[in-house]
Amino acid sequence: MSATAAPAIRARKGDGTPLVMVTAYDTPSARIADDAGVDIILVGDSVAMVVLGYEDTLSVTIDDIAHHTAAVARAKPKNAMVVADMPWMSYHVSREETVRNAAVLLRAGASAVKLEGGSKRLDMIGAILDAEIPVMGHLGLTPQSVHMMGGFKVQAKEFDAAKVLLDDAVALAEAGCFSIVLECVPDAVATMVTEAVPVPTIGIGAGANCDGQVLVFHDLLGLNAGRAPKFVRRYADLRSDAITAVAAFADDVRSGRYPSEAETYHFADGTGVPGLYQAANA
Ligand code: KIV
Repeated sequence: MSATAAPAIRARKGDGTPLVMVTAYDTPSARIADDAGVDIILVGDSVAMVVLGYEDTLSVTIDDIAHHTAAVARAKPKNAMVVADMPWMSYHVSREETVRNAAVLLRAGASAVKLEGGSKRLDMIGAILDAEIPVMGHLGLTPQSVHMMGGFKVQAKEFDAAKVLLDDAVALAEAGCFSIVLECVPDAVATMVTEAVPVPTIGIGAGANCDGQVLVFHDLLGLNAGRAPKFVRRYADLRSDAITAVAAFADDVRSGRYPSEAETYHFADGTGVPGLYQAANA
């Protein structure tokens, strides 16, 4: 179990220090996130698009998320709580299947699960909570609904949709979610929700007034090619650095500069190839 748990995150509501969450999908990235002092590591189903090359998040399964959650858990975060995303169709069929799937992620090393959607998910959320598994909600742009939403678009831009989102957020908090992600909604909507619910909101493309912020690891480090959404701030350009490093390795190999003497092992008697031949023919 990670050091921080759901009640500690829930208790951060209104303490004046924004929560920090980043995604991670493997052991080295989880170590980096924990060493950097984040509060929550999210094993997001964004792994589908960010790491596995899919066009949306619908292709990843509970086994995929469990595999990445176990890798993150093996980093043994000293501070950060590990939350794992429930992928599409892992919490849509029945209460039994939902609870079993949530348990798979806990056994893989998560301390809580996140799932997308509002009031229509309350039954499944209740079932997971009854199994003593903390739940993080996710409203606004919910990528698993990409086909229903007609694309990855900012949500709740009109009054009626904003009202539905607000009601959903209140319902999730009342149901027992310990925090709620708000993705790609106008800042006024995120502000209204943040003021209305007694649990921390964690924004991504939801303005500055949420109780915390989350970014995808590869986005904030500039690891992937292509245009990032407007809310992404890149704190590094590791893709360029990586290309430069790999190109330098290729150049060193092709020019004979790699490996050097210091990077080479030698035969026990120190004579190199002649000694090896002698030993083989003795
Ligand atoms: O899967 C993910 O990375 C997420 C974040 C964008 C919140 O759900």
